[in-house]
Amino acid sequence: MTIAMQAETAAVDRSLVIRNLEKSYTADKPILKDINLKIGGRGITAVIGPSGAGKSTLIRCVNGLVAATSGEIIFQGENITRLRGRQLREMRRRIGMVHQEYSLVERLSVMENLLTGRLGYVPAWRAWLRRFPAEDIAHAYELLDAIGLTDFGNRRADQLSGGQRQRVGIARALMQQPDLLLADEPTSSLDPKTSVEIIELMDKLAAARGIPVIINIHNVELARRFASRIIGMAKGSIVFDGPPAALEDKNLAEIYGGQSWIE
Ligand SMILES: Nc1ncnc2c1ncn2[C@@H]1O[C@H](COP(=O)(O)OP(=O)(O)OP(=O)(O)O)[C@@H](O)[C@H]1O
Ligand SMILES: [Mg+2]
Repeated sequence: MTIAMQAETAAVDRSLVIRNLEKSYTADKPILKDINLKIGGRGITAVIGPSGAGKSTLIRCVNGLVAATSGEIIFQGENITRLRGRQLREMRRRIGMVHQEYSLVERLSVMENLLTGRLGYVPAWRAWLRRFPAEDIAHAYELLDAIGLTDFGNRRADQLSGGQRQRVGIARALMQQPDLLLADEPTSSLDPKTSVEIIELMDKLAAARGIPVIINIHNVELARRFASRIIGMAKGSIVFDGPPAALEDKNLAEIYGGQSWIE
């Protein structure tokens, strides 16, 4: 990264403020209940909690995939919950997303998958003709190196292992030069060693770019190891919010319910 880029990175506000966020998919069944969070402009925040707690719903509200029922999500001076159409698309470019099942285009090459990360920026006709600007192509090669897949640019996505796919998923999210990176259970289909490598890679690449990361994750040990902050959710509410060192068995019992599985 050049010095000019670092200076620019320092000047950008990448913090996220969530106020009184509520979400119900159907009347009378609140899924998110009065969520209040301020997430600073750096580091990994891990969101843990049992299945159905509302972790994915929270992340989808942040990137505008799901419309909030009420409350505010403020990012870079705009309330994401109010954005529609073009304004929402422009906001989404600033928010990179890493998915559980990678969501690569299987029949396209790794390079083409990376370049689709730029689609929000490239006019549709150029994307259709696959005519991407030289600087995007250079950036894609740089990211290929950074994820350790230098020689895989021409490989079809469907010929990659899960770990390799998720590396491409991370690089694709970074192609859009986001100011915030979201990941919804990015390692749940991966073996334990690959899972560590993926979170480590995300941590390293995001830190180098000064981008904060919010990760939904079921693996509490991984969360402890890489996150600077852990948010525990249960039944749509935040029941724990603190550094990994403060997360004790009693908190885990409150988040996940019961005791027997901890001992
Ligand atoms: N599109 C939807 N329409 C209706 N209900 C939904 C929708 N998406 C999620 N829900 C419900 O909202 C609740 C929270 O779901 P969500 O996916 O946010 O949980 P989660 O914490 O991510 O769970 P998991 O750990 O299994 O991924 C669940 O009861 C789920 O059935
Ligand atoms: Mg989920």
